Amino acid sequence: MWMKKMNRLFSIFFFITCSCLANAAGDALADIHPELSDASQNYSPGMGEIMAGIQLRHAKLWYAGTGGNWKLAKYELDEILEGLEDVKKYHPDFEGRPLAEMIGPITSEPAEKLAKAIQARQKVLFMKSFDGLSQACNTCHTANGFDFIYIQRPVTQPFTNQRYKKL
Ligand code: HEC
Repeated sequence: MWMKKMNRLFSIFFFITCSCLANAAGDALADIHPELSDASQNYSPGMGEIMAGIQLRHAKLWYAGTGGNWKLAKYELDEILEGLEDVKKYHPDFEGRPLAEMIGPITSEPAEKLAKAIQARQKVLFMKSFDGLSQACNTCHTANGFDFIYIQRPVTQPFTNQRYKKL
């Protein structure tokens, strides 16, 4: 009983001490780097970061589709589309280029074709549509002066600790 009480008291003391220390650390940081004090709320992913995420999903998408794991394929395509939404949100006018306006005209049609191939579970159509999407990636890169960023079919699995084949 007595021990229990002490434990509880200690927990409360510990909690208060930690919160105070954390607050103090936050205040100190705010004094030195005001721009960092609210970093979590101000965070916005850079264009390169978003694209690196899209690239990873693009590679996984290929192995999911060719492996017949259609649920995973749909999931990865959705992630790519979410990445493009992030471009619209965070970089609508990347370096003075109207990216937000370019996304729809360049990517909607190939993305829809790919979605249909996935839904129909048609491997050959999937492979063809996948190339169509990669072409769309390259169209945007070229249009923005990044023709040296050329997207193609992957030749090795990005992560071998995930299963791409149909379960
Ligand atoms: C709306 C235009 C647009 C579309 C669509 C687009 N990209 Fe990009 N991408 C860019 C721009 C702009 C950059 C350069 C970013 C920078 O300078 O940080 C880029 C950069 C990249 C990079 C370079 C990142 C690195 O670190 O090497 C990769 C990889 C990439 N994109 C993959 C893709 C893939 C895969 C797709 C298609 C699924 C795609 N992108 C679709 C505009 C686009």
